[in-house]
Amino acid sequence: MLRKMFLAACLIAPAAGAQAQTPIDPDKQAAALVKQMTTEERNLLLHGFFSRPNPVNKLPQIGAPYAAGYTPGIARLGIPQLTESDASLGVAWINGKRARGATALPSSMALAATWDLKIAYAGSAAIAQEARASGDNVLLAGGVNLTREPRNGRNFEYLGEDPLLAGTLAGETIRAIQDQHVMSTVKHYALNAQETQQSAIGVDISEAAARESDLLAFELAIERGNPGAVMCAYNHFNGPFSCGSDFLLNKVLKQDWSYPGFVMSDWGANHATADALAGLDRESGEEFDSQIFFGAPLMALDGKDPAYTARITDMNQRILRSMIANHLFDDPPKIATPDIARGEAAARAEAATGTVLLKNNGILPLLKTARRIAVIGGYANIGVMSGGGSSQVAPQSGPALAIPTTTAADDWQAVMLHPGAPVKAILARTSGTRITFDTGAYPAFAAARAKDADIAIVFATQWTTEGLDVPDLNLPSGQNELIAAVAAANPRTIVVLETGGPVLMPWLDKTAAVLEAWYPGIRGADAIADILFGDVNPSGRLPITFPAALEQMPRPRLDGLFDFDGRQHVNYDIEGSDVGYRWYDRKGLTPLFPFGFGLSYTSFRYDDLKLRSEGNTIHASFTVTNTGSRAGRDTPQVYVTARGNAKGQRLIGWGNVELAPGASTRVIVDADPRLLADWSSPRGRWAMPAGRYDVTVNSSAANPVLDGATGLEARLLPP
Ligand code: BGC
Repeated sequence: MLRKMFLAACLIAPAAGAQAQTPIDPDKQAAALVKQMTTEERNLLLHGFFSRPNPVNKLPQIGAPYAAGYTPGIARLGIPQLTESDASLGVAWINGKRARGATALPSSMALAATWDLKIAYAGSAAIAQEARASGDNVLLAGGVNLTREPRNGRNFEYLGEDPLLAGTLAGETIRAIQDQHVMSTVKHYALNAQETQQSAIGVDISEAAARESDLLAFELAIERGNPGAVMCAYNHFNGPFSCGSDFLLNKVLKQDWSYPGFVMSDWGANHATADALAGLDRESGEEFDSQIFFGAPLMALDGKDPAYTARITDMNQRILRSMIANHLFDDPPKIATPDIARGEAAARAEAATGTVLLKNNGILPLLKTARRIAVIGGYANIGVMSGGGSSQVAPQSGPALAIPTTTAADDWQAVMLHPGAPVKAILARTSGTRITFDTGAYPAFAAARAKDADIAIVFATQWTTEGLDVPDLNLPSGQNELIAAVAAANPRTIVVLETGGPVLMPWLDKTAAVLEAWYPGIRGADAIADILFGDVNPSGRLPITFPAALEQMPRPRLDGLFDFDGRQHVNYDIEGSDVGYRWYDRKGLTPLFPFGFGLSYTSFRYDDLKLRSEGNTIHASFTVTNTGSRAGRDTPQVYVTARGNAKGQRLIGWGNVELAPGASTRVIVDADPRLLADWSSPRGRWAMPAGRYDVTVNSSAANPVLDGATGLEARLLPP
């Protein structure tokens, strides 16, 4: 008894000052708590609500605004409640009813375009602090699904098509969140690459292809970030649902990767009590499931069926372990005024760094003394686009515009613009310039405005959302025709894209410059204007290939498109682990813009590549020099292009360098051995082929600048 009281006191004592003093052994402390649980208590943490009070769940006041998830605590044992909010882009807007505003970061795709760990950390730490100030102790962040499908409506929540880039950045965001004593997730495990037939789609892929691509992204994110939870996905994976996949949960995650935390289902993704035996530890948003599987039906098996009894003990152990390891007991969140200035500074830096200059015939940067600028389209007089669904954040001042897309009162898929009008940001940087705005509704009017100006800037938007894919890669609502008409009227036309992912650009040759600003977040307008006028030198690099045509993609037609009630399969073995640029490399295709591409207002030179192989890795080093007349940031990339006799391109590392004109620096990259290997299913190991390894240093996946080779011996590596 005394021991029990001591333990509870250790766990719940609030930290003196900022940091907890109690030495923590999460496994032991969790085990001690599990032992003290009554039969009824053993069931309480294993299922959670979608936290909006309704007549069924009769939720109490929870001390934080109702958000995405809620699990009551167990006061007798000092176990705190879980108050869970979405997601990676900020403390999310829950059906327009959240009490406080929050920082809306740029989309994760924009973050991936920074290729920058410091920026990833700063933004995520800031939003985790805001989560704490809201009273939340869990952020359902960490979306890392590889963008196998450029039409996926949730690509803006993910970090692009490469496992190293996506996994590393996701891991860093998770680390940042958990450093603030807010538990994070990594999601949606796994291969949840399209929204069409979200819960029905059957994903088929070989083990090797999955391990070398999407699963590797999760593995890297988990290693770097140690998330308290993994959220399993809606889709079927090689047969069973992801949340009932013994292979994904027990075999890969818990056995091979020794993951000590817990698996929570996505909201509505639990389909059976037996999912517990497959490795699912917590049923989330239970109102969304066809019944509560981890409530009474699970309890009925506790103490009766040894397999379930052991699992229930383990499920509690894992959940408590993650709560303890992330200081949810000893450093609870406190409601406070969020530090929005910190968040907005991080958002602005992220937007500015992640904006990609795709084309520039020399028109950019603009002179601040330009005489007449016509700004056209994209609601540029109001704000900047954001993505819809559970991750959507409403800034403090509320949305600049929210257009409902459903008839539901709590429309969670609104087309929402974040405040900060690009027109105003442009006005603020010019003097004596006549600036006109045209909505772009009628291309003829817009063209007339453009003709009457020295420069036309067309803002083009593509709204995407959770729950819906786009049918093709065309800009919607006649914007291609609009841009074509404007560019025909004035060749000094600049296009600023605010899109979830890649789009086709049939008008590209007619325009003077193109900027991809993604969904740029609460300071997006300033970031775009900073780049247009040269206050910031653009440095974003594409984290995803922009196809030249749908026919280039592994699936020219989206599986299940327009088949709203069917159940289709998607065959990811078409490309296997050759996702994105690796597919283009394999097929010898030239995309519109390659992975890793982005222009600058200065120029860089790479020389003196040195390669050294050692054990199971390759060390590469080379020099980068700023050869232009402006300070700038560059992201040189290192790829392996052939191993042994096998050709094939893989990113193995990159550098982020900031250089003054004329300055040089050395970049060093050490390859993760898994990127040099193939997964061997029969051996259950990574296998590195013996022989020559060709390595290049590139400015994009399609532009090798330096090359060299080294040799490695054959090796087998554990999973
Ligand atoms: C989404 C998750 C989200 C959850 C809770 C689901 O619809 O797929 O990403 O965390 O809802 O809002």
